Amino acid sequence: MKYHMQTFGCQMNVSDSDWLDRSLNSLGFEKTFIEGEADFFIINTCSVREKPEQKVYSLLGRLNAFHEKKSSVFACVGGCVAQQVGKGFFERFPFVRLVFGPDGLAMVPRALQRLEHELRLKISLLDFEDYYPERGENWPDKMPPQAFVNIMQGCDNFCAYCVVPFTRGRQKSRPSEDVIKECRQLISLGVKEITLLGQNVNSYGLDKQGLEINFVRLLREINRLTGLKRLRFTTSHPKDMSPEAVKAFGELETLCPHLHLPLQSGSNKILMEMGRKYTRERYLELVTGLRDACSEITLTTDLIVGFPGETDTDFQETLDIMNMVGFDSSFSFKYSDRPGVRAELMAPKISEEIKSLRLDILQKLQEEWTLKKLSQRVGTTDQVLIEGPSKRQRPDVWSWKGRDSGGRIVNIEFKTREDFTGRIFKVIFTRSKKHSLEGKVVI
Ligand code: SAH
Ligand code: SF4
Ligand code: F3S
Repeated sequence: MKYHMQTFGCQMNVSDSDWLDRSLNSLGFEKTFIEGEADFFIINTCSVREKPEQKVYSLLGRLNAFHEKKSSVFACVGGCVAQQVGKGFFERFPFVRLVFGPDGLAMVPRALQRLEHELRLKISLLDFEDYYPERGENWPDKMPPQAFVNIMQGCDNFCAYCVVPFTRGRQKSRPSEDVIKECRQLISLGVKEITLLGQNVNSYGLDKQGLEINFVRLLREINRLTGLKRLRFTTSHPKDMSPEAVKAFGELETLCPHLHLPLQSGSNKILMEMGRKYTRERYLELVTGLRDACSEITLTTDLIVGFPGETDTDFQETLDIMNMVGFDSSFSFKYSDRPGVRAELMAPKISEEIKSLRLDILQKLQEEWTLKKLSQRVGTTDQVLIEGPSKRQRPDVWSWKGRDSGGRIVNIEFKTREDFTGRIFKVIFTRSKKHSLEGKVVI
């Protein structure tokens, strides 16, 4: 059977979809990129804001036309919206035959084998487990140079605006043995750079009551693996960033000088309402500590504008702290009401108009900082890991896309037609663009 898959949301969803692809392919299911060829559709969904959730309903409405043309065509809905809406999908879209939440993913390949043969069957995999459900692996012979490794599932923080604790459940750390085994395996398949994934990586292990190593120990163990060139992790919560984790940036050779540290707001009042459990002063202290440990560290963040009760003064405090830190880049969002979260009941809600206005001001300020930070790189050198060919090519030169140690995109031109994927070069940056750099290999 042929399937077509679409993925929304964060890196954890992307990594879940990659696993599903490998697993389904090993069972003989064939992936297609043409919707009209598919025997079934898989949608891996995100419900962090209203927009990606709405996209799921309109997509299912559109895909239903394929079912109407050929009645055996069906759809599977997975991920965070599936966990929230659950069996509701069966009623709203009768051609949906499988719904699965993040903890049900491991059972999806088996479920699809049953759906293939039992044509009247519908399956829901929505139970939360109280442990990290380990998944069987089917690695290909060779992997791309960059890979993601899950170290945990779920979140216990219940930030007032966030749906993730409801869709991914309580925090469950994956046994460090399994994490390290997977890292080893990936390195043996050609992986050079590993990014550890979790909603709140700094609290890794803490749910295991002393029976598991903590996050920094885990970093140290992975840092020691022979053949690994680069280590990254995401996402960190400022309240759980320990002094040891800060110091690790100056100490561990493979740990890249890049940290994504979501700030969300620069106003202490809003941070408190959000339940973030840190102040702007504490965040700035962390930034100072990080820069002391590693002067060239790249800092990126997430910001929300228009949280209930956010005044012009609160918003101005966010702009001020952005200028104090000087983030290399940021993801910024308009606050969006999610069903069942605490902020849904908070007032006053900020109008769509003001949210748009604030987002626009904030993003323009970030653009200025991004440009400035990128232009400061010109003339300096760094290691660049080549990930693959660039999108844009010119005649007679071959352009390759890589990333510097801070995670910035770097395009490099070569005169020879060799495959440079996975190679690491020392590069001097020659030009900065809006969101990327150009560089030349230094011999
Ligand atoms: N676990 C991570 C990321 C969670 S979701 C963390 O704690 O940082 C990614 C980002 O989406 C969040 O950092 C936040 O900025 C944004 N976000 C989450 N819920 C939102 C909501 N209801 N409205 C707008 N943005 C939201
Ligand atoms: Fe959501 Fe907060 Fe958990 Fe991040 S830490 S996933 S924002 S509840
Ligand atoms: Fe979205 Fe779920 Fe990730 S809500 S951001 S896919 S954890």
